[in-house]
Amino acid sequence: MDAVGIIGYGHMGRMLMNGFLSSGALSTDEVVVASRSRTSLDACAAAWPGIGIAETNAELARRCRLVVLAVRPREVREVLREIVPAMDGDEHIVSLAAGISLRDLEEAFPGSVTRVVPTVTSAVGQGTTLVCHGRQIGMNDALRVEGLFSSVGNVMLVEEEELAAATLLSSCGPGLLAAVIEELADATARASGLPKDRAVMLTTEMVAATAAYLRETGAAPA
Ligand SMILES: NC(=O)c1ccc[n+]([C@@H]2O[C@H](COP(=O)([O-])OP(=O)(O)OC[C@H]3O[C@@H](n4cnc5c(N)ncnc54)[C@H](OP(=O)(O)O)[C@@H]3O)[C@@H](O)[C@H]2O)c1
Repeated sequence: MDAVGIIGYGHMGRMLMNGFLSSGALSTDEVVVASRSRTSLDACAAAWPGIGIAETNAELARRCRLVVLAVRPREVREVLREIVPAMDGDEHIVSLAAGISLRDLEEAFPGSVTRVVPTVTSAVGQGTTLVCHGRQIGMNDALRVEGLFSSVGNVMLVEEEELAAATLLSSCGPGLLAAVIEELADATARASGLPKDRAVMLTTEMVAATAAYLRETGAAPA
């Protein structure tokens, strides 16, 4: 009954499962997964022998106390309509969906809800997962979800009004910085004749080293 459910075995669902299980934050017998397609469920069962598989979202809701919605924003309302009637009310719903507010979630489920924004760099246990709890959250639920996501990087608590701006930095930022790395390496390779793969490696290392230097010395970027 105290299992963690993940609805949606797509990019984020896969990445979080991998992080939670590889870090030892959860074991396979503590996780139940539901997804729309049989192909995704079969891939999940093959990747993680012993994992719980639910045939429907409602079945997952009956088996889990913490339910992570890792579906696209346009799917969230339909999924909530399926799971909420199967719940007792003391569960905790965690949504990753951009643009689905705490109010939207609380209108569908008047219990513990949390919005969470992981980032692509969570796949390597780096970067910051943003966490924003709803009004009904209890201390134990808050700590449990914060602890779980700290297994895939840092966790920062934010107010909902801050979430969009913070998401731009923590979740969109890696894409922006990767584009800068690509441009810098490409321009250097074109101008100098340095092989592109070596230019990319040097640029990537330089960016990682600069971030480590700023973090460790506390020096201002300017
Ligand atoms: N990608 C990112 O970098 C990122 C970062 C932060 C937050 N997010 C948020 O994370 C969420 C998931 O994004 P994603 O990139 O992982 O999307 P995705 O790869 O499209 O995965 C979504 C998964 O949801 C499943 N699904 C769709 N409808 C469903 C339903 N009715 N019931 C059960 N499962 C259903 C699909 O399952 P099948 O494969 O079985 O069809 C699909 O695998 C989004 O809300 C997004 O805003 C994403």
